[in-house]
Amino acid sequence: MTVNGEVVTALGARADRRTDVLAVDGVPIALPEETRTILLHKPAGYLTTRMDPRARDTVMALVPDIPGLHPIGRLDKDTTGLLLLTNDGALTYALTHPKHHVRKTYRAWVQGIITPEAVARLREGVLLEDGMTAPADVSRLAVRGERSLVELTIHEGRKRQVRRMLEAVGMPVVSLKRISVGPLQLGDLPEGQWRELSQAETDALFRAAGVARA
Ligand code: URA
Repeated sequence: MTVNGEVVTALGARADRRTDVLAVDGVPIALPEETRTILLHKPAGYLTTRMDPRARDTVMALVPDIPGLHPIGRLDKDTTGLLLLTNDGALTYALTHPKHHVRKTYRAWVQGIITPEAVARLREGVLLEDGMTAPADVSRLAVRGERSLVELTIHEGRKRQVRRMLEAVGMPVVSLKRISVGPLQLGDLPEGQWRELSQAETDALFRAAGVARA
């Protein structure tokens, strides 16, 4: 084995996959691409897409320029909170395939005082135009004036699902924030900031999806 043409025999010798050329018997070897996953605290006003044909602001403007990086799933333009981006297709598949049932928790301020009946309906599942939703975990966290703060955990990922579920029980959403995906919490990461996930955190995401890491 050589690194940049120098023979390496020492156990535990290190090389940088981005800049060093590794070869065995003179034949350069390609290392698998390094996978990277970013946790972004998405602010309102940004589209969750790699590129917008109308050149509106997208979440890609807020994260480092990593080849192949793409958002996992979607938060609406006006939704804030935990958004994952990765260049690891296996992780995207693990977290977005409906059969994997990865739980996502949202906090919503809604217009109106949420009643125990509305909470019960959300817990049972509500009928939307694309069919019944699975039961959600729901709790009422606060009431301020004419508004209520509701926490909702779902494992499906239909378009605008939380907004539509709350609307269906007569509670239009004023603001919506995602606070967790599987075992990952948004924590106190400031809005607009990002951090890179550790290997242990990525492994925990695969485990939450019930998928063995490739
Ligand atoms: N549900 C919604 O309604 N909007 C989101 O952005 C995410 C989940």
